[in-house]
Amino acid sequence: MKLPIYIYGTPVLREVAQDVELNREVLLPLVQDMFDTLDASNGIGLAAPQIGKPIRVVVIDLNVLSDDLPEYKDFRHVYYNAHILETNDETETMEEGCLSLPGITESVTRPTRIRVSYYDEQFQPHDEWVDGYLARVMQHEFDHLEGRVFTDRISSFRKQMIKSKLTAFLKGKARCSYKVKTVKKG
Ligand code: NI
Repeated sequence: MKLPIYIYGTPVLREVAQDVELNREVLLPLVQDMFDTLDASNGIGLAAPQIGKPIRVVVIDLNVLSDDLPEYKDFRHVYYNAHILETNDETETMEEGCLSLPGITESVTRPTRIRVSYYDEQFQPHDEWVDGYLARVMQHEFDHLEGRVFTDRISSFRKQMIKSKLTAFLKGKARCSYKVKTVKKG
């Protein structure tokens, strides 16, 4: 079932998400809804806070990139209770966008490698170093679990440049092809 995506300004996007109990009956329907929502919005990653739930569940689908990056063919995974444990010193700057901030893309600088812990779709624990595009997407999605969005990481100059767009979100305006939930003031 497709769910509305919570837009910048909704309080849930600023909460620190909590670990979940690994219960199949609860999580499998949720993850199915998250993939349905991700597919409907043509996204590559979605964190549970973006559907209004402050819990540590993330889905990532990189198959759309597999023409250029064959290692991501059929890459479609769930990450439960994910945490970034370490990062390397080398950084890279790339364009990012976010389903919760439709119409905005900005350059964001992040580490190139991260050490992450999480449970996979079989509830198996992992503690591993990740690099490449996946490391970039994970950092974006796992930021959502800490109550952060990518525009928190851009320069104050760039933030000024997109201020009117952010203000529009806060007034409940969001232009996109998928269903959303905005905060409305006054
Ligand atoms: Ni995002």
